[in-house]
Amino acid sequence: MDKIRIKGGNTLRGRIPIGGAKNAALPLLATSILTDEPVRFERVPDLADVSSMRRLLQVIGVEARMVAGKPGTMELRCSEVLDTTAPYDLVRKMRASVLVLGPLIARAGEARVSLPGGCAIGTRPIDLHLSGLERLGATIELTDGYVHAKAPKGLKGASIRLTMPSVGATENLLMAATLAQGETSIVNAAREPEIVDLARCLVAMGAKIEGAGSETITIQGVPALHAATHAIVPDRIEAGTYAMAAAATGGDVLLEGMRLELFGAAAESMSSAGLVLEEVEGGTRAARANGLRGSDVMTQPFPGFATDLQAQFMALMCIADGASMITETIFENRFMHVPELTRMGANITVQGNSALVRGVGRLKAAPVMATDLRASVSLVIAALAAEGSSELHRIYHLDRGYERLEGKLAAVGAEIERLA
Ligand code: EPZ
Repeated sequence: MDKIRIKGGNTLRGRIPIGGAKNAALPLLATSILTDEPVRFERVPDLADVSSMRRLLQVIGVEARMVAGKPGTMELRCSEVLDTTAPYDLVRKMRASVLVLGPLIARAGEARVSLPGGCAIGTRPIDLHLSGLERLGATIELTDGYVHAKAPKGLKGASIRLTMPSVGATENLLMAATLAQGETSIVNAAREPEIVDLARCLVAMGAKIEGAGSETITIQGVPALHAATHAIVPDRIEAGTYAMAAAATGGDVLLEGMRLELFGAAAESMSSAGLVLEEVEGGTRAARANGLRGSDVMTQPFPGFATDLQAQFMALMCIADGASMITETIFENRFMHVPELTRMGANITVQGNSALVRGVGRLKAAPVMATDLRASVSLVIAALAAEGSSELHRIYHLDRGYERLEGKLAAVGAEIERLA
């Protein structure tokens, strides 16, 4: 089941439900380690990555179950930590497993987490996670490809300055600091909406946190955290993906539950490219105004243009009037969608970490191959707008980040089917 066929040319119109954010759900599930009381999450997206995180937490000793009669609601409880190891075979499948590091040290005083290794889009080291945990008093050893972290006497609050606003490092350190003795400040912290959502959940669990969403987060450690229920923030990357899919087909959709401010600067970039984005009753409307206009973007940490929307924006600019310069500043290898878009007739020239896209009238259907999560969905956008019927291979990547993608697109008029 790793092929999808899309017949391009249909205009997307209607309502698209936006789920809880994958990149919020993954750290949020890990907060269950921080307390022995039950934590309940609503709007948990049904994604392969979420299932991987749930499996890892169960190995650690977290009971996790979907709540009967409440779709999308998961309850987790870590009465006691049974195993402080996050094994290689789980971490290599999903690098966000590294987000159990901070909670495990804070709760159990030690953690043994496999180094995640690189992935298709880059080497993605975790040096900032580790140096921050050392600032909090943990001892860190790297042996046999594992991080072995210890803090037998607990963590102590400290001032931590991140050399870059790493999302994962901010999340690991924020979670660890909630149970440290004393005050922690994280300077040059990531400001993504998923960080704000994580802090909101931790505060509901009894943590004392100020400044989430700004460049400095201050945490006063507390002896223990308690039960809470938390509804996960809407997925801005899923929403941005469908906004651009609608625009690519000249359509008009309602992104149900999406709030415009979650897009950050991406909203301005999409508007300058010719999208209409407006908050309306029930969510955010996304439509194409008139034509699509070539626009330059440079990916930046939030509130800048999200790197996770770069591939999708490139697909859209392939059929815009004029040229677009797209520069990727976050990851070192995030243009793997370019050769596949080129096979569909796109005109793209890559120079280092910039791609010059010259708009062409229309793309042509072709068999293409997905390489990573966001590159996969950029090919879906291209296929929806292309002339003819495209087959996308290796689309298991999609299942990591897009819940019921075919169903949601078919419901607004796409001709899309998953092939055996
Ligand atoms: C999160 O990854 C997201 N994943 C990514 O989404 C997203 O692209 C990224 O943030 C940036 O927004 C999840 O939230 C699960 P980073 P993360 O730490 O935390 C370098 C998707 O498609 N770095 O902000 O790994 C790193 O190499 C995924 O949903 C260090 O050098 O991102 C990268 O170049 C892809 N040392 C840059 O910082 C470190 O210790 C940003 O990484 C940590 C990061």
